[in-house]
Amino acid sequence: MTDTITIRRPDDWHVHLRDGELLEAVAPFTARQFARAIVMPNLKSPITTVAAAAEYRQRIVAAAGDGFTPLMTCYLTDFSEPSEIERGYRDGTWVAAKLYPANATTNSAFGVTDVRNIYPALEAMQRIGMVLCVHGEVTDPGIDIFDREAVFIERVLAPLLADFPELKIVFEHITTADAADFVIGSAANVAATITPHHLIINRSDLFAGGLRPHLYCLPVAKREAHRLAVRAAATSGSAKFFLGTDSAPHSREAKESACGCAGIFNAPFALESYLAAFDQDDALDRFEAFASLNGPAFYGLAVNPGTITLKRSAVRVPQEVAGLVSFQAGETLGWAIAD
Ligand code: DOR
Ligand code: ZN
Repeated sequence: MTDTITIRRPDDWHVHLRDGELLEAVAPFTARQFARAIVMPNLKSPITTVAAAAEYRQRIVAAAGDGFTPLMTCYLTDFSEPSEIERGYRDGTWVAAKLYPANATTNSAFGVTDVRNIYPALEAMQRIGMVLCVHGEVTDPGIDIFDREAVFIERVLAPLLADFPELKIVFEHITTADAADFVIGSAANVAATITPHHLIINRSDLFAGGLRPHLYCLPVAKREAHRLAVRAAATSGSAKFFLGTDSAPHSREAKESACGCAGIFNAPFALESYLAAFDQDDALDRFEAFASLNGPAFYGLAVNPGTITLKRSAVRVPQEVAGLVSFQAGETLGWAIAD
């Protein structure tokens, strides 16, 4: 049995670091595990300009400390200027742009009401090779919440890809067999991130013994067959799938509420959670590609120098971390980061 694993330093290809005090509280956890992270732009005042992204990046560097590189993203709106997107990409401020369908999730009110409104931006992105990160859910209230990802593929993503066949797209935090199949069946310019929680929980877990607000996120966890399909994709060895935690901290009060916020805070033990899943599926030999190689290859970035070692060892996730409730709080995980 393998008891230690050493991999190239990994990156998180999808994280919410917030701002202000919350940024200061959570950034060190991401920086401890990952060399770089794609930082989501859905602040209360979304990051839509090059200047705002550059300032936000400085606040992140100050909060995370040396040795961590935030990779910034541009929040797309109905009014996104292709010239501003291209300028920020060319000067190295941002590496990707994010499509939030308007009102799909936290702080997405300024998101895109109709994907045709960002066609000029997508044309520029396709031309310059800039990645489009996609929150893949329709917002039509008539569509059952558990079907919103699958319907998004049919109504939005497939037509978009037909119009922009060369656009680099990351289908973020996939939760369904439909999404995994779509990515597998698409060309090499379409990839997906997968969260630790969607490898581990299904929708029944949200209601196990009572309502579990800390397991609520968007896209919401789906039925077991979908979890297994997503997990098979993650551990398959395919270069199309890579690590993206979607760690999305909210205060305890905001989660434990009559109308709780969507988001799972998994940054403190994300690698340990992922590795346990790969271990259970006898896929330890595929973990490095998922965590450290496939993402940089897709984004056209170098692999990180240096390595990280994890060892088989019991680690208990505290009930509270930095005043927040972490994913798997109170559970004992089987892998730990070696000092
Ligand atoms: O659960 C989620 N939380 N899903 C998202 O898409 C956004 C995130 C957040 O920012 O809280
Ligand atoms: Zn997210």
